[in-house]
Amino acid sequence: MNTNTIYLDNAATTPIAPSVKEAMIKAMEVFGNPSSTHGYGRESRILIEQTRKKIAKELNCEPGEIFFTSGGTEADNLAIQSSVRDLGVERIITLPTEHHAVVYPAEHLRDRFGVELVFLKVNEFGDIDLNELEALLTSSSKKTLVSVMHGNNEIGNLMDIDAIGDICKTHEALFHSDTVQTIGHFKIDLAVTKIDFITCSAHKFNGPKGVGFLFARGGVKIHPQNFGGGQERNMRSGTENIIGIAGLGAAFELVCSDREEEETRLNGFKQDLIEGIRKVRSDAMFNGRSADIGKSLYTVLSVALPQDGKNDMLLFQFDMKGIAISGGSACNSGAQKGSHVIESIRPDVPTQNLRISTGRYTTTAEIQSFLEAFAELTQQ
Ligand SMILES: Cc1ncc(COP(=O)(O)O)c(C=O)c1O
Repeated sequence: MNTNTIYLDNAATTPIAPSVKEAMIKAMEVFGNPSSTHGYGRESRILIEQTRKKIAKELNCEPGEIFFTSGGTEADNLAIQSSVRDLGVERIITLPTEHHAVVYPAEHLRDRFGVELVFLKVNEFGDIDLNELEALLTSSSKKTLVSVMHGNNEIGNLMDIDAIGDICKTHEALFHSDTVQTIGHFKIDLAVTKIDFITCSAHKFNGPKGVGFLFARGGVKIHPQNFGGGQERNMRSGTENIIGIAGLGAAFELVCSDREEEETRLNGFKQDLIEGIRKVRSDAMFNGRSADIGKSLYTVLSVALPQDGKNDMLLFQFDMKGIAISGGSACNSGAQKGSHVIESIRPDVPTQNLRISTGRYTTTAEIQSFLEAFAELTQQ
């Protein structure tokens, strides 16, 4: 039984919203195989296609450019691996601060198939230099995929995907962005942003786990990774996850319905957290751009305390107080493994990192309780 009462780990995952749960329960009644031609099948097919249309309308793209997947990891892999397999990509340019769902397939393609892999430099704030990207794209005629995430799940940095898209377009490079932390939370207009692939995972915005999608721009012709029944217009065989897709649709609708209000509300919490933490510990640092409002995810604040031998049990101590936070990304949060993202931006200064990530159900009282616990556990 989970004894936590305050959940501040929304970048790892979020609780399912009541409207999402309701949509999923309703979808449980819709049991026909969407590939069947009879009425049962058609009912399921309609549910899937209506969800696809709703998502496409919001993103300003064609429904046929949305492919449902098992989540962000599969969608990232599909974009990156297909670029090499089907689109003649010989070079991948990415960042060392990307999620492992991007770094690992890129390294696999380098190690197994000899694809050139270039990591852009990141400074101590996690920023990149777009001139470096431009110079790299000018320096070689190799067909290139640029993969730069929109919002970093650990340090919160937002990247200028419009500017990167323009550079990629000029140099005829393909552009993939892992938008798992931003999609829904920020407006993305695919008719404006010059991007070939973006990815989504429903559990980052109060939807279910194990479902998401890949957007692949119409003109970009990739081939399936799984062969079989030919679902998802032959891109992803396997009977569709109807309940998951219904949940994804309801969650997407919800997150888009009040994103400006949520951005203002959660940025307010972020400001309170920054001020409260600084009051208690003047030596606290904030990783990357996470304390720069407007330049970071409004949901993520990443705090670094100097390692003093006393604070290495902090996550556990917060847990004992009923407060769920993380040390880095979700993959690392339980395991207390060093974060490859923080290591990339600050290799020489070991710190105790706390990622506080807020969400739809975070309250003012919870932020106050966190700050009280922070003072109690870290005051010197
Ligand atoms: C930036 C980013 N990319 C990809 C993923 C993987 O998504 P999923 O959990 O749906 O496989 C995550 C989830 O932690 C993420 O934060």
